[in-house]
Amino acid sequence: MTTPSAASPSGPDTRVVEVAISDGHALVTIDNPPVNPLSVSVRKGLMEAVSQVNEAGCKTAAIVCAGRAFVAGGDISEFAGPPPLPHLPDVLNAIEASETPFIAVMHGTVLGGGLELALACAWRIADEKTKFGLPEVNLGLIPGAGGTQRLPRVIGLERAARMAANGKPVNAKTFEDFGGLDRIFSGDPMDALTAFRTALPARPAHISERSVDNADLTALKAEITKSAKGADAPMIALETTALAATLPFGEGSQIERQTHLDLRQSAQSRALRRLFFASRSVTRPERLKAFEPADIRHVAIVGGGLMGAGIAAACLAAGHRVTLLERDAESANAGRSRVEAIISKDLASGRITEARAEARRSAFAAGVDYDAAADADIAIEAVFEDPDVKRAVFKQLSDVMSETALIATNTSYLDPNMISEGMPGPGRFLGLHFFSPANIMKLVEVIGTSVTADQTMATAFAFARGLGKIPVETGVCDGFIGNRILSAYRRQADYMVADGASPYDVDKAMRKLGMPMGPYELQDLTGLQISWANRKRQLAAGTWPGRYVDIADRLCAMGRQGRGSPMKKGWYDHTGGTGQPDPEIEAIVTAWRTEHGTAQETFAPDEIIVRIMAAIVNEANLIVEEGIATSDTAVDIVWTEGYGFPKHLGGPMFWADETGIERMREAFAAIETQSPGSWKASDTFKG
Ligand code: NAI
Repeated sequence: MTTPSAASPSGPDTRVVEVAISDGHALVTIDNPPVNPLSVSVRKGLMEAVSQVNEAGCKTAAIVCAGRAFVAGGDISEFAGPPPLPHLPDVLNAIEASETPFIAVMHGTVLGGGLELALACAWRIADEKTKFGLPEVNLGLIPGAGGTQRLPRVIGLERAARMAANGKPVNAKTFEDFGGLDRIFSGDPMDALTAFRTALPARPAHISERSVDNADLTALKAEITKSAKGADAPMIALETTALAATLPFGEGSQIERQTHLDLRQSAQSRALRRLFFASRSVTRPERLKAFEPADIRHVAIVGGGLMGAGIAAACLAAGHRVTLLERDAESANAGRSRVEAIISKDLASGRITEARAEARRSAFAAGVDYDAAADADIAIEAVFEDPDVKRAVFKQLSDVMSETALIATNTSYLDPNMISEGMPGPGRFLGLHFFSPANIMKLVEVIGTSVTADQTMATAFAFARGLGKIPVETGVCDGFIGNRILSAYRRQADYMVADGASPYDVDKAMRKLGMPMGPYELQDLTGLQISWANRKRQLAAGTWPGRYVDIADRLCAMGRQGRGSPMKKGWYDHTGGTGQPDPEIEAIVTAWRTEHGTAQETFAPDEIIVRIMAAIVNEANLIVEEGIATSDTAVDIVWTEGYGFPKHLGGPMFWADETGIERMREAFAAIETQSPGSWKASDTFKG
């Protein structure tokens, strides 16, 4: 007997949960694309399915999901308001208490509410490639349907607390070893289900009724405090999970639910959810949706230095064929070694298998002959930041490549219009600005010239998304979105050092805000010479905006060019391995202040933060007002993905909104007074 039934609230055409009964066994199929989130219609459907299978007296009911995932979580779009009935905890309690026992048959990803659903079932079987996790903390939340209370009752307190607090998924083998699965299968899930049902084990005790052994979580707490970097949810998730050891399931899950609902209103969760949605919309500009992206198979990369090698590795990881071109055989070899080093590191760390490493190696070639790029679908130039060298490379590429192939520059600051001017097929040129290390960092700024075709942009966006990147559209200006804001950030930091703050205090304050490092630590890491060259260029062009503090130039001239420089010194002394504050720097700064007769002010850490943020947010506002960035959220994505601005603070624009416009205006007025003529006020800060 087969009894299909619609179980959707929104009419017969949107059946998100279907029940089919055959030979006394039910198959409950969730089909709610793209990843089967537990929207209200699914919750209703599941509730009805529980009644139906019990009324029919089914021996078992298996939950399976259509598409690429089991259930990848709750429906985040419902999180802004009060959750509509039925609530997920009630649905899951009904599944657990059901007379007919449920079997979760899983594949793809089983995340958040999906894992909570699986834990309400009597048995869990999964495809060998399935991933399991409680990623709620990534959205500033904790599970809200018993996840923190059921999981420790299955896999133990320490493991469950770790999964809830770090949000990282584990693979099927690990989850099975933890005791989370009854069986792993490969191949057809229906065959696996039939086999499982044929030798059905005795029904285990309800998970909610099991006890949990207490565990010492001191070390885990220290680890999570460190990795959370100011985000609240990870520690709350850990502590809520720990309740499972002392409270009955009902009490623990009530606290969990209330905490989950409270966190939905928190600034951190609002910030993270906004970034989550924005990172989807920003990476798919509306106007490009009309264009079919061209297929990219073969990527040519010119310049195999730090960036070129990283970009090559990212392209190989995405399955592209890659040809790396260098200026001579020796440099080509060096480039090849850099790419090989990245592949070997991925292999050694277990991120990829030997077979994958081999596939990447065989898809890769390095040389000096541009003919090898003739059939490339896209070329990315990552040679020295010199307009003449870049133009020469673009010319050579356009000589050999088809006019339909894309040619991109990875320039940090230069104008792609100028690099491609006068070359054939002007619509195919653009900027693709990757961030270092390019095989890891997700942000890519996509820069159209005044004549870049939308078709080119559509292909570039699809290509970048295919690399697993977050592409953000950027207009042309000095430094595009990210580096232009970085320049404003550094200028204000320098003004404060000129006027009395120690660079070490500035770094400390920015770390207090949640940045992974302060501006001076960052310069030491990336090298002081890049921004020095850029400042010289701006000074020569007469585009430097206002007051100029040349303390960093003095350091560069002394050879103090950062951690990687021969001297191993920059703003800090790295000769001992770790960067240490250096009395010599204090002396250089003091001498500079005396020479320039600057006022010796004292800046409290919060004042440092708010003044730097005023400079950043003012520049960000200008960028949006000038149309360089399409929205405030685009800026926030650039700064959270590319510059380490804490995601739980939402990005500079979100931070400013939370801080309040009045406080931001006041801080901006203070930096204008501090360095007259150095800041152009954005419309938002005017008046
Ligand atoms: P790099 O100095 O490490 O590498 C440049 C490479 O280009 C060298 O291997 C050099 O041999 C090669 N090269 C020079 N002229 C060439 C030519 N005519 N033909 C072929 N190869 C040539 O520099 P890096 O850091 O990789 O930067 C490259 C580009 O990426 C620059 O435009 C830079 O502004 C930009 N960029 C750099 C970032 C960084 O963090 N270093 C971040 C984002 C962009």
